[in-house]
Amino acid sequence: MKVTVVGAGAVGASCAEYIAIKNFASEVVLLDIKEGFAEGKAMDLMQTASLNGFDTKITGITNDYSKTADSDICVITSGIPRKPGMTREELIGINAGIVKDVSSNLVKHSPNTIIIVVSNPMDTMAYLVHKTAGLPKNRVIGMGGALDSARFKYRLAEALGAPISDVDGMVIGGHSDTGMVPLTRLATRNSVPVTKFISEERLNQVMEDTKVGGATLTKLLGTSAWYAPGAAVSALVQAIACDQKKMFPCSVMLDGEYGMKDICIGAPVILGRNGIEKIVELELNDAEKAHMKESAEGVRKTNDLLEL
Ligand code: 2OP
Repeated sequence: MKVTVVGAGAVGASCAEYIAIKNFASEVVLLDIKEGFAEGKAMDLMQTASLNGFDTKITGITNDYSKTADSDICVITSGIPRKPGMTREELIGINAGIVKDVSSNLVKHSPNTIIIVVSNPMDTMAYLVHKTAGLPKNRVIGMGGALDSARFKYRLAEALGAPISDVDGMVIGGHSDTGMVPLTRLATRNSVPVTKFISEERLNQVMEDTKVGGATLTKLLGTSAWYAPGAAVSALVQAIACDQKKMFPCSVMLDGEYGMKDICIGAPVILGRNGIEKIVELELNDAEKAHMKESAEGVRKTNDLLEL
């Protein structure tokens, strides 16, 4: 199992680290345009192998895509991250060109790969890859919902005073401060609806804190987060590599599901060796449907800025 991660910045390096630590891939190629940067990160990470007990071989490459040939899975983290006060949508001008270029280079050397898109604005970047890379629709996956759901569970556990392992919940919709749809109605603590334990007011607070999860961190860190994005990607890569058939909300090209077409937006999918093996359609209530519709309008507005 060969995995390529493009972009050796904080998110890309965290992806490579978590993938290696989980020890399911034989090889991770880390590629960056900055001379020597990916090589340095790869060497540093390889020097943790004996300490952390993994055998995955991590190689760093400066911009030579021939070294990514025959990758089973490719992760795109390239582009600029947001700064405090910026929305993810504001990154489109610079990141669209980068993501288009990176995905076409990847597919040239790995025509059967599965691409996981992390770069922002993530739903629009996933849409761009769908439109330009020529891969079947089950082989392009946007990462956002897996990350947003992890942040939702963190906030739920905090509100419940419960361990995170007791909590389950999912965020669908767009990966943006206004587009996320945390499904509070379906969130549970050990199968019991969380509404049994916390007030509606507290749950609304959980929902709002989840939606600005990335922005809160950007404000604290001065740049966008990397540990949770890296961990979210590694969970998706593992689900595909190990054919786990796990369900994650991911940005997926819809073709009638949730009443939408020609848009990449967060919805639950089953991930296995073929990438997206199924889109799971949930019965949403009227409020959730309206929230999802509004979210899709936001994503389409950003998609309209693409020059396809
Ligand atoms: C985040 O929400 C990087 O979009 C990513 O942290």
